[in-house]
Amino acid sequence: MRDLEAIDTVGVVGAGTMGNGIAQVAATAGYDVVMRDIEREYVDSGLENIESSLSRFVEKDDLTESEADDVLDRIEGTTELTDLASCDLVVEAAVENMDVKQDIFADLDSAVDDDVVLATNTSTLSITTIASATDRPELVVGVHFMNPVPVMKGVEVVVGEKTDADVVALAHDFSEALGKETWESDDKPGFVSNRILMPWINEGIRAFDEGVATKEDIDRGMKLGTNVPMGPLELADHIGLDICLDATETLHEELGDRYTPAYLLKRKVDAGDLGKKTGKGFYEYD
Ligand code: CAA
Repeated sequence: MRDLEAIDTVGVVGAGTMGNGIAQVAATAGYDVVMRDIEREYVDSGLENIESSLSRFVEKDDLTESEADDVLDRIEGTTELTDLASCDLVVEAAVENMDVKQDIFADLDSAVDDDVVLATNTSTLSITTIASATDRPELVVGVHFMNPVPVMKGVEVVVGEKTDADVVALAHDFSEALGKETWESDDKPGFVSNRILMPWINEGIRAFDEGVATKEDIDRGMKLGTNVPMGPLELADHIGLDICLDATETLHEELGDRYTPAYLLKRKVDAGDLGKKTGKGFYEYD
């Protein structure tokens, strides 16, 4: 495996919202980046997004004009998969479709050196299944960035059935080198983030549809009531309703009806472990 010190050039597959965000943070951290998409117009649109995002950092004096120019210079946009051959690590951020991802991983497997780690930004699909399209499943790992990538601090590291422990460590270290903070999830549907976020969004949509409140009050209620930056309906809009639907359909297919009260919740209440007020809930308190 090529370790963190050996990584100079990062490949990014997909120049959409997530791909261009990942390319931007990698180039901002000093890496050379090759960002690849299938059509030139997608590549150009990704580069434009990066330019516009960088200009927001320049406006706030977080970057100088010349630093922003350097970041852009470090990103090479391409439509050729073979241009990824020089990469020391590749992050795939293409559409959330297993067939597409498996085709990409099979192609990457032959395009890059044998010791290069192949990461996927998938938000709900199985790392193990994606990795099975390669001859290096131990070098395949999930690095799930959050949208907008240049702003959101978190990266979810997802461990496939065959992912090597050193590769998991590299995924954490690489994310940290991009200025992110990580948490780790097993390769279970939706991982930590979307397994919990998607039902929340879905229920917000249902609540609106069933006339519980106006969409504004649902979003306002969750923001004021739980101190999140966006309510479920605005967050769904921000993520993209198609992405939310794809993710929810995957979860539904894999996990069935998740809306009955959790057994563990009932068991804890019966046991009197009610949370902070009793000194113990899911955590323990002094
Ligand atoms: N590039 C650079 N800077 C950006 C940016 C971008 N693309 N988007 C926002 N910003 C910056 C703004 O410049 C602004 O900076 P300052 O506060 O320093 O001025 C800051 O972020 C806030 O932006 P805005 O004032 O425009 O708007 P806002 O206060 O409403 O914040 C937000 C926007 C950051 C998106 C905030 O609403 C937020 O954090 N929302 C929640 C987002 C979230 O939950 N994302 C995860 C979704 S789940 C996911 O991504 C995983 C999945 O698999 C679906």
